[in-house]
Amino acid sequence: MKEVQSDQFALQNIAFFGRSAEYLCELFDIKDIKSLEGKKVLDCPGGPSGLNKYFKDHQIHCVSVDPLYKLDSEAAAKLGERDVDNCLQLINSDNKAKLETKFTNFADVSHNVRKIFIADYELGKAEGRYVVDQLPQLSFKDQSFDVVLSSHLLFLYAPKSVGGITADEHTPLNYQWHLDSVFELMRVAKQEVRIARCSRFDTYFYEHRLELHPWAKRIIDELHAKKIKTELIETPLHGPIISATYMLRIVL
Ligand SMILES: C[S@@+](CC[C@H](N)C(=O)[O-])C[C@H]1O[C@@H](n2cnc3c(N)ncnc32)[C@H](O)[C@@H]1O
Repeated sequence: MKEVQSDQFALQNIAFFGRSAEYLCELFDIKDIKSLEGKKVLDCPGGPSGLNKYFKDHQIHCVSVDPLYKLDSEAAAKLGERDVDNCLQLINSDNKAKLETKFTNFADVSHNVRKIFIADYELGKAEGRYVVDQLPQLSFKDQSFDVVLSSHLLFLYAPKSVGGITADEHTPLNYQWHLDSVFELMRVAKQEVRIARCSRFDTYFYEHRLELHPWAKRIIDELHAKKIKTELIETPLHGPIISATYMLRIVL
C-alpha cells in the first residue's frame, strides 16, 4: 500500500463540526426518510449537525449524543465557528490536496448548518434530543435504539499515520478504542449500526482513491469471526470535501 502523506493536514483535536442533514442521509444511505418511521434512532456523535432537527421535522425519534453538549449554546456556537475556520485554513494551506477538494462554499455550508443546530439546541436539550455522553461507554441500556448512526468520528479521527486526520501525538483513539466503540454502538442497537466514513482520509484527499480504512477492515474481520453480518456500501457525497466513502452497515 502506497503511503500518501502530507505534513500539513493534521488536526490537534476532534472538531466540533457538523454536516447538513441531506449530506448525512446520503452518507448513511438513507434514501427515503420514511424507512425510519416508527424507529428510535441514536446519532453518536451528534456534533453541531443538522440531522437531529431534520429528523424531528420528519417525526423521527432521534437522540444525538456528544461530550460537548455540556456546553451552553453561546460556547457551542463559538467553538463550532472556530473549528470550521481552523479546518478551512488547513485545507487551503495544504498544497498537495486535490483542487476539487478545496470546495469553495465549504465555510458557508458549515456555518449555516451550525446556525440551524444552535437555533434548535436549547429546545433539543430540554426535550432530551441532545444528550451528553461519549464512546466507548454510553449510558443507555442494551438495545435502546432500533438504528444507530455514527459519522465522522471512528476511523476519520484515527491517527494520521493510519489514514485518519489527527496528529498522531494528539489522538487517544487507538485501535482498541475503535473496537470497543463499535461493540458499544452494537450493544445499544436492536436492528443495525451504520458507521461512516470508513475510508482512509489521505488516499482520497490527495489522490481521489477510495480505500477502506485498515482498522475498519480489521473490525469487519473480527465481526465476521463472530458470525455477525456486515455490508460495506460505497456512498457518493455531494458536499464539502471528499466526494465518496464507505459506510459500514452492521446487521444485528
Ligand atoms: C466531526 S464531529 C461529527 C458530527 C456529526 N456526526 C457529523 O458527521 O456532522 C465529531 C464529534 O465527535 C465528538 N466526540 C469527541 N470525542 C467523542 C467520544 N469519545 N464519543 C462521542 N463523541 C465524541 C466531538 O465533540 C465532535 O462533536
